[in-house]
Amino acid sequence: MPHKSFDPSTFRDKPVSFVRRSGRMTPSQERAWEQHHTEYVLDIPHGRAATSVADDATGDPERIFGRRAPLVVEVGTGQGHAILHAAEAHPETNFLGVEVFRAGLARTIIRAELAGLENLRLAEVNAPELLEKFLPAGSVDEVWVFFPDPWAKARHHKRRLVSADFARIARLSLRPGGVLRLATDWEDYAEWMREVLDAAPGFERDFAGDWAERFEGRVLTAFEKKGAEKGRAIRDLAYRRAS
Ligand SMILES: C[S@@+](CC[C@H](N)C(=O)[O-])C[C@H]1O[C@@H](n2cnc3c(N)ncnc32)[C@H](O)[C@@H]1O
Repeated sequence: MPHKSFDPSTFRDKPVSFVRRSGRMTPSQERAWEQHHTEYVLDIPHGRAATSVADDATGDPERIFGRRAPLVVEVGTGQGHAILHAAEAHPETNFLGVEVFRAGLARTIIRAELAGLENLRLAEVNAPELLEKFLPAGSVDEVWVFFPDPWAKARHHKRRLVSADFARIARLSLRPGGVLRLATDWEDYAEWMREVLDAAPGFERDFAGDWAERFEGRVLTAFEKKGAEKGRAIRDLAYRRAS
């Protein structure tokens, strides 16, 4: 029997930006997970909620990837479109994808395995906790957040991933000069992100004008496709850690 969806915020003092879906996996996803998850998915000790990160859990990117290289962390990889493309195009860079939806991770593993990617790792945890507790401060070159859940209703805004607290955490994880890149098809969330990040200490805009140019390393994902089909404008933003 699949597990019922549950609300992981029950176990935390901050709301989380997801409701974990039970999302039954297909047989090929089950197989990929069984055979390959230990190669790709980091074994991170968790706290009370299945997707939390234990307070004393820490990871060393150099050991995780077996080499020292620039590190890009993508938050909410979904089916992995963006990170798989980037990892293939940039073998000189290390990529860490964070996602709480296991079927999405399994799909990513299938394609990573087919492409023989060695510069990609995945984490099945709440991304802000990974950035804050697990990775060393200043160890990340870029944090990517593409098409995060918009939590459109006003009473759900507190669940939005991008918040002043997320800005603080992302800044801490980035090296000075490192970049936070975001994209959304939800106009109201785009304006919210810009407001939050314009006000965030230690970040400066990495674009001129109202919005950033489309980040050239960002390929079309399932969620961008859906948004574009509904006629929504796609907004990109980029903020550089200034200090
Ligand atoms: C709307 S989807 C977008 C997926 C992908 N970036 C794309 O463009 O197709 C947002 C994804 O973020 C994941 N997510 C939301 N909050 C998260 C968190 N705090 N930590 C890790 N993943 C999260 C969700 O499970 C979901 O798969």
